[in-house]
Amino acid sequence: MIADCQCNFPGLLLEDKIKIKELCRTLPDLKLTRMNQYSIDMRVGISIRAYTVVLGICLTIFTIIKTLSDSSNTIKFDINVYKYKNFIPLTEEVDVISTNISDTDYNQLIDIQFSFKNIYFPCNATKLLLLVLVHSAPQNFEKRRTIRETWGQNQKDVKLLFLIGSGFTQEVEKKIFEEYNVFNDIIQGSFVDSYRNLTYKHMMALKYVVYHCSWTKYVLKTDDDIFVNMPSMKHFLTNVVSPYGSYKLLMCNVIPRTKALRSFRSKWRVSFDEYELKEYPTYCLGWAVLYSPDVIFHFYREGQRTNYFWIDDVHITGIIANKLNFSYHVDISPLILSKREVKLLINATDDYRPFLFGSGEMRESNIRNLWKYAAKRTVSEHDNQK
Ligand SMILES: *[C@@H]1O[C@H](CO)[C@@H](O)[C@H](O)[C@H]1NC(C)=O
Ligand SMILES: *[C@@H]1O[C@H](CO)[C@@H](O)[C@H](O)[C@H]1NC(C)=O
Ligand SMILES: *[C@@H]1O[C@H](CO)[C@@H](O)[C@H](O)[C@H]1NC(C)=O
Ligand SMILES: *[C@@H]1O[C@H](CO)[C@@H](O)[C@H](O)[C@H]1NC(C)=O
Ligand SMILES: *[C@@H]1O[C@H](CO)[C@@H](O)[C@H](O)[C@H]1NC(C)=O
Repeated sequence: MIADCQCNFPGLLLEDKIKIKELCRTLPDLKLTRMNQYSIDMRVGISIRAYTVVLGICLTIFTIIKTLSDSSNTIKFDINVYKYKNFIPLTEEVDVISTNISDTDYNQLIDIQFSFKNIYFPCNATKLLLLVLVHSAPQNFEKRRTIRETWGQNQKDVKLLFLIGSGFTQEVEKKIFEEYNVFNDIIQGSFVDSYRNLTYKHMMALKYVVYHCSWTKYVLKTDDDIFVNMPSMKHFLTNVVSPYGSYKLLMCNVIPRTKALRSFRSKWRVSFDEYELKEYPTYCLGWAVLYSPDVIFHFYREGQRTNYFWIDDVHITGIIANKLNFSYHVDISPLILSKREVKLLINATDDYRPFLFGSGEMRESNIRNLWKYAAKRTVSEHDNQK
């Protein structure tokens, strides 16, 4: 199965991209690394030739679809296609979901002792539309600042919190504490903040929601180098999903079953001791995951009794979801910009089209530029659906 095959040609309509993606899924077996959805993992024996063949097929499909739909250049994509997807929209206000967990659970995180070193409770007073939880590394002061000054500005019904761990030099700890006091938007856990501990961070996010914000309508888990188109996001959640919240909602860039990487050269190499099966279950790329709180509750509870595996998105949205027989992943990759589209939009050489996220791993300057671009649009332009 192909992880992704977006054939991102400029001017291609979004609905065509979805069609192409569907078609690509049925093409022969290709393995893509999870690092970069456009890069082919040569090590697993995929020849350039196979890639060329697939590109050729993509191009042909593109040409056919383009010819069929070349009537106009305006954006016709209807984000309402997401209305009938795999979730249960609520039709009225509901009470807090029940969180029936044992007393000792709060101070435990999978297999370690845990406490919140610094915590903040923005959910107590209001029922949020969206809680945004941003994985951040301790030294990323600038990235946090960029997000606070752009898309992450506080709003009445949206609150953004940064998640970080511990174990830094005294100087960094001090700076973080100051930052926490100034901005009231940092949740700090007691575990050592490191790459291989990211699953603790993601589980801390889930724990925070379960215990301190289970009555938010939606939760977005993202990273500190991502752009979120907040006006469109709010519109999407309120008008396309449901203004009251939803059950069983897990929306993201879905990665269908892929092989676990075993090469010593890969950043994502896992040993057989860490993960013994050949393939990962279907999972979500971790930098843009929309959850409903009930899904978080179930994933959290199962995560607390599941052996630690360090690739957090595979672990939580793949392995644990699979353990729970949860198979409601909804792919929103058509609402994520490609790197090329980010460039075109920033330079204002491309038409506006609906999107919820910029591309992965963005530089701060690009986040600021894209924000300037998106802020210029009115909400009705964000809605963009006739
Ligand atoms: C919570 O768990 C207890 C036993 O563990 C059970 O008796 C009770 O019904 C549960 N409550 C809810 C709301 O699920
Ligand atoms: C992960 O966190 C735990 C608990 O703080 C710590 O003991 C362990 O050394 C950390 N692992 C890594 C690889 O940093
Ligand atoms: C908010 O609720 C938490 C429990 O979730 C409680 O510990 C905390 O004291 C409350 N904070 C405020 C400011 O009410
Ligand atoms: C998932 O499905 C399998 C097979 O149908 C079943 O044995 C298992 O109990 C289910 N697990 C859960 C958590 O529902
Ligand atoms: C942006 O537009 C300017 C002219 O308007 C052009 O010179 C430049 O090459 C464009 N940059 C990109 C990245 O397209």
